[in-house]
Amino acid sequence: MRRISVKLLLAVIISFLATNLIFILIARLVLSTYIQEEKMNIPAYNVLAFGLFFIAVVVFVFVFLVLIRSHIRYLKEISEQVQKISNGDLGATIHVRGKDELAELSQNINKMSAQLRAKFDREREIEQVKNELISSVSHDLRTPLTSIVGYLDLIKKRENIDNETLDSYLYIVDSKANYLTDLIEELFDYTKLTSPDFQLQRNEVDIKRLLQQVIGEYEPILKREGIDVHTDFACEWNVVIDVEKMVRVFQNLLENAKKYSKKPSVLEVNQKVQKDSIVISFTNSISISEKIEVEKLFDRFYRGDESRTDANGSGLGLAIAKQIIQLHQGEIRAKQQHDRLTFLIKLPLTQESLENHM
Ligand SMILES: Nc1ncnc2c1ncn2[C@@H]1O[C@H](COP(=O)(O)OP(=O)(O)O)[C@@H](O)[C@H]1O
Ligand SMILES: [Mg+2]
Repeated sequence: MRRISVKLLLAVIISFLATNLIFILIARLVLSTYIQEEKMNIPAYNVLAFGLFFIAVVVFVFVFLVLIRSHIRYLKEISEQVQKISNGDLGATIHVRGKDELAELSQNINKMSAQLRAKFDREREIEQVKNELISSVSHDLRTPLTSIVGYLDLIKKRENIDNETLDSYLYIVDSKANYLTDLIEELFDYTKLTSPDFQLQRNEVDIKRLLQQVIGEYEPILKREGIDVHTDFACEWNVVIDVEKMVRVFQNLLENAKKYSKKPSVLEVNQKVQKDSIVISFTNSISISEKIEVEKLFDRFYRGDESRTDANGSGLGLAIAKQIIQLHQGEIRAKQQHDRLTFLIKLPLTQESLENHM
């Protein structure tokens, strides 16, 4: 490591030696021409001494500056780049030269500049996502609200409305209002889950028992809709998860199976262990004609065409599920094989629970 203090000291020594050399040369010249030939008076001697001393200083400063000029230039360059960064050119970099402290300083400034850029970009992205969210939400809120207001208007006027029509209007208003409530609730949950300071409340539970419990609650509802549930669970495994949130994921998937499956059909739920993860899958039937854009399923506000028209989903269910699984350092994805759609959840197992199963 060539430290800058060593370099400076070297520059001082070299300047000193150079000054001495020149001083000796001049002194010799002056001494031989003046002092040896004629006697000098004291003022002249003083002037001569001062002149020599002055020359020595100038030589020293000159040699020193020549030796360190590249460093001064580099310092100037660093200062200019820092100025640029402070003026908003985030990401601007300094060419790193050599290995001394100045090079280190440049490296650190480059790092800082890159971090500032990344932070700025991230914030802008968050801002953009928020704006998109607000505009899609406004649209989704406005549509049912407009129809509620419209029907209420009709009811208020009471012009030739028989009881049957009134009932149908009220039914529509009621269902739209319920839809709005659900949408707002899901939206609230989604924003909470995606906020940077959201914390999971993790506990150790047996995933098999949890799945059995949730499915047990849903089985009668699914059966009523013509969906039989088949399960195949591996042995009991303890996982450290936020139980409430994980139940939410399972409920969202079961609710989707209920809403979007072809009926009658079978819903398969499997759970197995793969290397160091637990893999849970939900597979339901869909009609072959249905073209599902598997990569888009987890996008916010994505709804299949048919469901969009009857507008009883927010399109947030799978986005919420994905967020929860990601907070657990897991993965969720979907795949379609002919008329079967599978949702796969992969959750990492802790070293401890792996050891317990050895
Ligand atoms: N199990 C499923 N079978 C078939 N299609 C599904 C299934 N789950 C989700 N989808 C499709 O994905 C879309 C998004 O689902 P989701 O995010 O839960 O929103 P939502 O249920 O509110 O519409 C649904 O509108 C539907 O078209
Ligand atoms: Mg859903």
